[in-house]
Amino acid sequence: MQQPNDTSVPAIDAARALSEKRIRHTRIAEVMEELNTLIYPESQDNILLVCGPTGAGKTTLSRHLVASALERATSQMEANRGVIPAIYVEAPASGENDFSWKLFYHRILTQLGDRLESPKVIYGIDPKTGRFVRPLGNSLAALRTAVEQGMRERQVQFLVIDEAAHIIRQTRGARKLEIQLDTLKSLANQCGTQIVLVGAYDLYQLVSLSAQLARRTHVLHLERYRDDRPEDVLAFNRCVLAFEKTLPHLWGGRLTPYTKGLLENTLGCIGTLSSVLIRAARLAEGAGSWSVDSLERALLTEAQRKRILEEILDGETAVGPSFTRVMPKFKRAAA
Ligand SMILES: Nc1ncnc2c1ncn2[C@@H]1O[C@H](COP(=O)(O)OP(=O)(O)O)[C@@H](O)[C@H]1O
Ligand SMILES: [Mg+2]
Repeated sequence: MQQPNDTSVPAIDAARALSEKRIRHTRIAEVMEELNTLIYPESQDNILLVCGPTGAGKTTLSRHLVASALERATSQMEANRGVIPAIYVEAPASGENDFSWKLFYHRILTQLGDRLESPKVIYGIDPKTGRFVRPLGNSLAALRTAVEQGMRERQVQFLVIDEAAHIIRQTRGARKLEIQLDTLKSLANQCGTQIVLVGAYDLYQLVSLSAQLARRTHVLHLERYRDDRPEDVLAFNRCVLAFEKTLPHLWGGRLTPYTKGLLENTLGCIGTLSSVLIRAARLAEGAGSWSVDSLERALLTEAQRKRILEEILDGETAVGPSFTRVMPKFKRAAA
């Protein structure tokens, strides 16, 4: 990389400014639009699946999806303070053990909250009689009941489950997998809620193991920006420019010359680009001035990049066929 003139960094927290920056880029806009079209009260798509590479911005997208649904429902929420139209939860990591549905239900209940004026069934007050009823215990069945009631009362239209592969990763055998997936499906049915599963490509591969779910699930692909598609290169360039503009005093127009190298190094993943630039900004701050050296040191190592690329290529190959939606040729009725 070419060495530009060093510049001293003003005493502001550049890394924080970068991490607070949210870029509305093409891929996010496309997937958001598709999700917003498919999420509606009478939808038959009970379970939607969003997959894409690590660092593509899936978590950012999920949080944004929920935040914008809440924003759209402001007047409804003001009229009825019990309503929570959308919820985001991260599926707990299962570690060595089976997935903990209890912990998962606890997380949903926390999101459903108890601060609003809505019926307090979960917390032991019968909304109709106003009398105290036996509080629900901590058994799996009680938690599940509380989640179902809470979701219905709060009229949760959709529930986003991030890191959803945690739910099924530890399950061995097709039978167990079906049980986990059935649990999710019935949660969606019982609560009248659509569930958006979000995860890296392994989630797609796990879900594909279930013929039932694979057939019924609509898949959305939050893809990376590829260097072999001119429109992707342009969209990625716009992202670099947006990050550059966030810190004009630091980069002062000297980041964009490295766009090609950044696209290659980050594999076109905007989350990874953000992480690289945050590291570069911190290194520059540490050194007292920006130089291309701080950018080079912030890049992914070749070993990291190779590992991520392998995962992406495997994932894209797996997802690929489902995105080739072939219109069947209907036979003309004989005249
Ligand atoms: N659109 C965006 N604008 C700015 N920063 C982003 C954007 N998308 C992701 N990031 C940042 O990149 C990092 C990784 O993104 P994340 O959404 O966690 O990716 P994923 O869940 O796909 O691995 C996060 O720190 C996030 O703040
Ligand atoms: Mg994530």
